[in-house]
Amino acid sequence: TQVAPLRVLICDEMNPGNLEHAGFEIDYGGNLPREETLRRLPGYDALITRSRTKVDRELLEAAGERLKVVGRGGVGVDNIDLEACSRRGILVLNAPESNNVSAAELALAHLMAAARGLTRSDRKTRAGEWDRKFLGVELKDKTLGIVGLGRIGSIVADRAQGLRLNVVAFDPYVPENKFERLGITRATTLDDLLAQVDFLTVHTPLTEETQGMIGARELALLKPGAIVVNAARGGIVEEGALVDALSAGHLFGAGVDVFVDEPPAPDHVFLGAPNLGITAHLGANTREAQERVGAEIVGRVLAALQGDVSKGA
Ligand code: MLT
Repeated sequence: TQVAPLRVLICDEMNPGNLEHAGFEIDYGGNLPREETLRRLPGYDALITRSRTKVDRELLEAAGERLKVVGRGGVGVDNIDLEACSRRGILVLNAPESNNVSAAELALAHLMAAARGLTRSDRKTRAGEWDRKFLGVELKDKTLGIVGLGRIGSIVADRAQGLRLNVVAFDPYVPENKFERLGITRATTLDDLLAQVDFLTVHTPLTEETQGMIGARELALLKPGAIVVNAARGGIVEEGALVDALSAGHLFGAGVDVFVDEPPAPDHVFLGAPNLGITAHLGANTREAQERVGAEIVGRVLAALQGDVSKGA
């Protein structure tokens, strides 16, 4: 008798690579409307998402008993209700490394864009205003503060050193020798970091601990004229507080790639904020990263499903 293939649904846009794998049926849906994901899901053993799809109780209920594995094509698993998955015995996998370089490069792109007023000058020039009065700031010999010295934060630090920035980082979970190895000054507290940096970038996951970690009080501790970048997760830097600090002229500029709610509402506070560069959660969106992410997450999910089968589950 023929064994039925194990079925995998990819419900967010990605580059999944080769979809032909013996013993599996992999359906690539691109950015599937949520209702369609919910409707189709009961027929699948695994689901692969990016950050767009919320894997919450509603989705898991809709999936029923068959779903065994959820794969996240990317790093952050904050769109997945891990507790609900674990209660249902669903394994959650991510692709923790594939897009780190791209994410780090986008953070630095935001820093440079803010330092030189790129988006502002682009807007003005298109509107017919030839404004050459704007004076940017050089990065060289300034101090970059990194909150979160994990995989992405470490790459940011390395590249920043190439730009002759001094790097200070705060990460209570990273051992001292990593700071030494990377040639980075360790800040013992967040406040200590904030007080000494010219530029700030956050590279932590979104957790209860990091949500709102950079609020009005923390922004006020930064030197006047500082630049803030959030290419990690919306809400690590409080959105309203960031806009207030920009509007008050306390910050020179900022760059954000992420929002608390994505896509943002048409009246989102960021959209009218001065000196703020915005991108649409593009940190992982490079050809190279997406090739790696797709191959890594599909490979990990198939291996997990196979493992499941060999255990006779
Ligand atoms: C990530 O956590 O790796 C990114 O959010 C990936 C993505 O863009 O989906």
